[in-house]
Amino acid sequence: MIELKTFPNGFRYLEIHNPHAHAKIALQGAHLFEYKAKGKPALLWCSDKAHFESGKAIRGGIPVCFPWFGKHKDDATLPQHGFGRTQEWTLVSQEEQADGSTSISLQLTPNAHTLSLWPFKFEATMHFSVGERLDVALEVKNTDSKPFELGAALHTYFLVSNIDNVSLYGFKDKVYYETLNNTKEIQKSELIIDKEIDRVYMNPEKTIILQDDTRKTTIEQTGSNSTIVWNPWTEKSKQLADMNDEGYKTFVCIETANALEDVRVLQPLQVHRLQAVYVQEGIVKN
Ligand code: BG6
Repeated sequence: MIELKTFPNGFRYLEIHNPHAHAKIALQGAHLFEYKAKGKPALLWCSDKAHFESGKAIRGGIPVCFPWFGKHKDDATLPQHGFGRTQEWTLVSQEEQADGSTSISLQLTPNAHTLSLWPFKFEATMHFSVGERLDVALEVKNTDSKPFELGAALHTYFLVSNIDNVSLYGFKDKVYYETLNNTKEIQKSELIIDKEIDRVYMNPEKTIILQDDTRKTTIEQTGSNSTIVWNPWTEKSKQLADMNDEGYKTFVCIETANALEDVRVLQPLQVHRLQAVYVQEGIVKN
């Protein structure tokens, strides 16, 4: 079942219930902010102080960074992570599948605002498959007559029992750029997080494993050769108004991306698909 719901302030989202899972997807940003598979713990973290308001990005779930990731490389006055997450997307298809999962697609095309920030015609579609596993894909088509550079990320906030219990696999021996101090380093072992980190890993394994105590989530990445791992830790958390000071303890962002040298150049009519499939394994807790 798919229902269109509205908060009292007019903010709209889709609520999906099927035999496998339930999920919520805001029309603004094509932003999935809740997903829970039957018999599994909630997959995603969402801040208690998240804004569900027109023009503001939601702190949690899966923000879609588009058409650039992070700060714009030439103009720091442009919105961080592009405009995709604060624009209203249009529901273009919804289907209950024979296996019980639900497919939903939302689309964004240019308007006066996007053209004022980024002078290109495009068709961006977010595809969701909500089932036993969660499958999300950003498909971007160049509908302009000139090429453009595309940066993007599926900026997923994973809910964890405690950041101290987390180990990430798939980054060992990989090069990363630490944004906090502009260094380029190599990851020597599996990744644990015991301080603020804001890293872009280049060419990680296609399957990343998030091990959290007895819970294991795999992230299968396609169309991406860069993954961001971000945790704001203590001081940055205090600076983020839409998050509790202790918020950093219960999430880690693992972002399937096209960032830094992994940005793509799309020729007219060319399509790029950035996809992440999240599979929860391990001990079942509710
Ligand atoms: C991460 C970036 O992807 O997103 C960080 O690497 C940034 O630098 C973080 O702080 C959160 O960004 P925002 O715009 O949602 O506060």
